[in-house]
Amino acid sequence: MKTLILAAGIGKRMKSKYPKVVHKLSGKPILSWVIDTAKEVSRDIGIVLGYRGDEVKKILPSWVKVFYQKEPLGTAHAVMCAKDFIDEDEDILILYGDVPLIRKETIQKMLEKHRSSDSDVIVLTAIFDDPRGYGRIVRKNGKITIIEDADADDEIRKIKEINTGIYIFKGRALLEILPRIKNENAQGEYYLTDGVRMLQNVETVVIENAYEVIGVNTRKDLIKLEEYLRREKIEELLESGVTILDPNTTFIQYTVKIGKDTIIYPFTFIEGHTEIGEDCEIGPMTRLIDCKIGDRVRIVRSECMGAFMESDVTVGPFARLRKGTVLKRHVKIGNFVEVKKSTVGENSKAQHLTYIGDTFIGKDVNVGAGTITCNYDGKRKNPTFIEDSAFIGSNTALVAPVRVGKKSLVGAGSVITEDVPPYSLALGRARQVNKEGWVLRKNPGGEE
Ligand code: UD1
Ligand code: CA
Repeated sequence: MKTLILAAGIGKRMKSKYPKVVHKLSGKPILSWVIDTAKEVSRDIGIVLGYRGDEVKKILPSWVKVFYQKEPLGTAHAVMCAKDFIDEDEDILILYGDVPLIRKETIQKMLEKHRSSDSDVIVLTAIFDDPRGYGRIVRKNGKITIIEDADADDEIRKIKEINTGIYIFKGRALLEILPRIKNENAQGEYYLTDGVRMLQNVETVVIENAYEVIGVNTRKDLIKLEEYLRREKIEELLESGVTILDPNTTFIQYTVKIGKDTIIYPFTFIEGHTEIGEDCEIGPMTRLIDCKIGDRVRIVRSECMGAFMESDVTVGPFARLRKGTVLKRHVKIGNFVEVKKSTVGENSKAQHLTYIGDTFIGKDVNVGAGTITCNYDGKRKNPTFIEDSAFIGSNTALVAPVRVGKKSLVGAGSVITEDVPPYSLALGRARQVNKEGWVLRKNPGGEE
């Protein structure tokens, strides 16, 4: 079976500078949801683009076949624009680029019925309490037709079974009806639904979960689906043994994985391909994007993106882990510490007010409060190496490229510009001078 996705509509009601189908739902473009599902049931995917199609094309995989519809003259006209894609001897699934949550199970169900009934077309329908705006499914004398809302009379408008616009056609049947569809109707459009009326053997599958066929026309629709996905994800996690203390303030994207007995505290956002192990405590007020996290990790009030954390790590409050951060077991990253593209070895600690960038830290290292790795010289990013069991005194500036050897100590307040050999003490600061009685000399009689 092939799939043709219609996405040439203008999407005016989004009130957006961007084409509707590139807007994101749970972090993924609306259209990519459709393509990912189509990919699971189809070997060949085509898409009809129109309004600002070039911008839409940018988010498409290269193997998707693109067709253009210059003017949106209706759904049948859109299919006509991809006529060359349709194969006489192959079934073709029609999907909409703005209906993202259709599931592959539903499509498989349609396909089974299509094959067992040898129908010309299977129409996916739904029962809506408020069917306004949709084409209605009219069943009369054993024949199924679809009447558009704009063309319906009062009697037909009462029908609650609607056309979702998703079909599986026999390629031959679709090719046969397309040239016969006219635009003599209330909207002056070429309706694909008119083609359905021309076919003899029309069958339907009724969808159970309406969210699967909700189209995104407005931002309100988008948020409705976002909220639905969010609730579904939270439900799935609760059922799998994760505690989410306040589902109302927790946002977890559908791609996230979380292990058993992990607790998610309120006001927490977990996004992208984040994976969290078991027995962790995440939040409150934490945002994780694309992080991999072991077991028993504790992260409080922190922002982490693209970071790896092994088991038993603690982070925060108020820490920022950036891309390329690797924290080995039992590492402690404390308040107001930023780590970027750096590895911190087992048992090492940076607990307060520190910047670690482009740095390799060994095991059992203590990085004192206020330490800064000066990794940028205005042109290049340079590396810092801090070997096992080194001790970096507070308020040290490590001017990279530089290396502090194993078990060495750096005195507080040092500016380290040269490598420190192993087992050494390095002091890089002005020696203190005490001028006794200086105040009295400046200000005679000022001892009280
Ligand atoms: C269509 C159906 C209607 C169904 C409804 C479900 C027709 C005539 N009507 O109505 O029975 O209840 O979907 O949502 O088919 N598109 C193009 N080119 C066009 C027109 C549309 O690519 O010229 C695409 C749109 O981008 C969209 C999809 O087709 O993805 C549906 O278009 P839309 O205008 O929303 O269809 P409706 O008229 O609402
Ligand atoms: Ca619509």
